[in-house]
Amino acid sequence: MSDVLLGSEQKPAILVIFGITGNLAKLKLLPALYHLVKDNRLHPQTIILGASRRPVSVDELLKTVEVCVLEEDNVCDPEALKDLQRRLRMYQIDPEQEADYDGLLAYLNSLEDETGMCMDRLYYLSVPPAVYPAVVHHLGVHGLNASCQHGNATTRLLVEKPFGHDVASAETLIAEMAEQFEEDQVFRIDHYLAKESAQNILTFRRHNPVFMDSWNGRHISQIKVLAHEQIGIAGRVNFYDQVGALRDLVQSHLLQLLTLVMLDLAKDDDDIALHQAKAIVLDSLSPVDVGSIVRGQYNGYTSEVDNPDSRTETYVRLNLTSDLLRWQGTDILIETGKSLDTKKTEIQIVFHEADETGNRLTFRIQPNEGIDLQLTAKKPGFGKTLQKVSMDFSYHGVFEDPKHPDAYERVLVDALNGDHSLFATSDEVMASWRVLQPILDYWQANDNLLTYEPGSRGPANSAE
Ligand code: BG6
Repeated sequence: MSDVLLGSEQKPAILVIFGITGNLAKLKLLPALYHLVKDNRLHPQTIILGASRRPVSVDELLKTVEVCVLEEDNVCDPEALKDLQRRLRMYQIDPEQEADYDGLLAYLNSLEDETGMCMDRLYYLSVPPAVYPAVVHHLGVHGLNASCQHGNATTRLLVEKPFGHDVASAETLIAEMAEQFEEDQVFRIDHYLAKESAQNILTFRRHNPVFMDSWNGRHISQIKVLAHEQIGIAGRVNFYDQVGALRDLVQSHLLQLLTLVMLDLAKDDDDIALHQAKAIVLDSLSPVDVGSIVRGQYNGYTSEVDNPDSRTETYVRLNLTSDLLRWQGTDILIETGKSLDTKKTEIQIVFHEADETGNRLTFRIQPNEGIDLQLTAKKPGFGKTLQKVSMDFSYHGVFEDPKHPDAYERVLVDALNGDHSLFATSDEVMASWRVLQPILDYWQANDNLLTYEPGSRGPANSAE
C-alpha cells in the first residue's frame, strides 16, 4: 500500500488561524505548517491567514517558526521558510468584536480576487474556549460560514478541545455551533486520534485475524489506558486550573483511544459507521464506583497557579464498565497524571490468566511507538518453570523511515481534505461528557483530593 501524496487531493484554501500568536500556534500549528510546506503537502495556492488581536508581522512569526523547528529538527530549511512566507498573511482582529467581521469577509474576498480562484475556507479556533461562542456567532451572522463568492467551495470550522466543561455546557456549545455551521462543516480536533500509533490500533485489529475471536470480555479481563506525563502544566495556569486532568485528557483523548479498542469493526473503512460505532461504545460506559476514583494534585501546584485554594486535580485514576454484551467481564481502567515519574501513553489489553499463564498486548502510543505481546514461555532447563517473555515490535526497529508526520500535520491535512474520520462528532462529545458527569457531580459534593510528590507515581498506592 503506497503513501498518498495528500496535497494532491486538496483544493486551494484559505486557512484562517484565530489566535496565531498563542502557544498552540507557536508550538504546534506553525511548525506543522512548515513541515507540510517542506514536504509539499499543501496545495500551491493555499494561503495561511494569521488573525490576531495585536499587530504582528509575518517576519516575527517566521522567526518563532524557525526557533521551534531548529529546536526539534536541528535544521530549518530556508526554502520552506520562504514558501511559508509567501503563503502567510496577517489580519488584525478582535475575535470578540462583531464589528470586525465584515472587514474580515472583505479581506477574504480580496484574497480570492487576487488569486482569481474559488477557495475553501477553514477557520481554526486556537483561542480560549470561552471565546468560541462569540467567534462562531460572528462568523455565521456576517456570512463567513458560506462558500466563496466565485462559486463552489467548502467552508469549515476547526475547534480545539475542550468542548464545554460538562454535559450542559457542551450541549449549549454544540447547539450554538449548529446554528451557524452544519455538522459536516465542524471538525472537532482530538490530536491523539491523529497520532500515527493511535491510527494503527484499528489497522492492527482489522488485519491481524489471530486476535479477532478473542477480542471480547470472555478473553480480555482488563483494558488499561494510561497517559503518564512528566511535564507539569507547562505555564498554562489559567487554562489548567479551570480544567483539570479529567476534563483535559480523559474526556477527549483517553476515551477516544478507548473507543478504538472497544468498537465493533465495520466491514469497510466507512467514516459514518466508524463514528456510530464509537458513539455506541461511549454510550455503554459508566464509572464503576465514583467514590473510589483516585484524584490527586501534585505538591507545589497551588503555588504554581497562585491559587492556594485550588482543588483542581492533576491526576486521576478511574474504573469504568461497559454494558455491551461483548465487554461483559472486562474491567476498564484509565489513569493519567502530570508531573509523574515517566512519560508514557499506552493501552494494555490484559487477557484472562489461567494458572500462571497469561498474555498482555500493549499498544505503545508514545514514546517508542510500537506493539508488545507478552507471552508465557518455559524457562530453559530441566524444570518446568514458566517465564513471561515479550515479542516486541517497535516502529524504529522495523520501518525504514520511522519518522512520521506530527499529529497536527495530520489534523491540518485531513481538515483541508474534508476527511472527518480523525475528528470527534457531536454525539461522541456528548456521550463522553455523560460518562464523566456523575464523577464531576460527586467531586462537587465530596472533596477527596489527595496529594503526591512531583516525579512520583502519583498518590500513594494508586499508580499503575
Ligand atoms: C493536550 C493537553 O491536549 O495534550 C495537555 O491539554 C497535554 O495538558 C497534551 O499535555 C499532551 O499531548 P501530547 O501530544 O504531548 O501527548
